[in-house]
Amino acid sequence: MTQTAAVLECDLQAAGADLQRAVLANLTGRRSIRRYLPRPLAEAEVEEILHAIVWAPSAHNRQPVRVIRLEAMPWKTRLAQAMGERLRADRLRDGDCAELVEQDVRRSFARITGAPLVLVLCMDMSPTDHYPDARRQNAERTMAAQSVAAAAQNGLLAAHALGLGACWMCGPLFCPQAVVEALNAPRHWEPQLLLTIGHPANGGKPPSRHAAETMVWRPD
Ligand SMILES: Cc1cc2nc3c(=O)[nH]c(=O)nc-3n(C[C@H](O)[C@H](O)[C@H](O)COP(=O)(O)O)c2cc1C
Repeated sequence: MTQTAAVLECDLQAAGADLQRAVLANLTGRRSIRRYLPRPLAEAEVEEILHAIVWAPSAHNRQPVRVIRLEAMPWKTRLAQAMGERLRADRLRDGDCAELVEQDVRRSFARITGAPLVLVLCMDMSPTDHYPDARRQNAERTMAAQSVAAAAQNGLLAAHALGLGACWMCGPLFCPQAVVEALNAPRHWEPQLLLTIGHPANGGKPPSRHAAETMVWRPD
């Protein structure tokens, strides 16, 4: 190997190591960001995020994830209202204080309508396997939901890699039918979650995590 080739090889190795560190830092440096600047995303940024979502792993590669993309205020408002109505009804039925319930409904409304981009991630069971017995059918549903969750995580990480903020909201899981009806989406799509995405207005809450060794069981 010539001296030039050796230097080049060394540079490439260093670049590879930097890239590895950057990917790992993207995993741990991501935070849930719940407030955004009132600035729209570039189309290229939205496409990168959708691309990352599409490339998530899925059970048998059946790709059951479907995405409802919302940027226009009337649609975000329809979604926030539909979810708010359901949240209010559920919480009042639980006997929660009406004032606190209204606070929560208002907060959820503001978070959804205040995000430049909202992606509702849904599960479509039609490309998955179908079993006659509940045990295997439940496992298949769980796998599809896990596949949607993997896609959601890809979306969060892509947003972070692009310098954007994002947060997962589980609300749609509690009112899937109301969500597809409000958004005029295919009725067999089953909303699992939504991601709010935008330019961060803050850095998010400081993270805390269990130490890895407290979560790991290693049988002797
Ligand atoms: C399944 C799931 C559901 C979540 N639902 C909500 C939610 O409804 N509202 C919210 O503000 N954050 C929600 N989050 C975000 C978590 O609160 C957040 O990931 C956690 O507090 C850790 O903070 P970090 O993401 O900044 O590391 C959810 C996260 C997951 C994985």
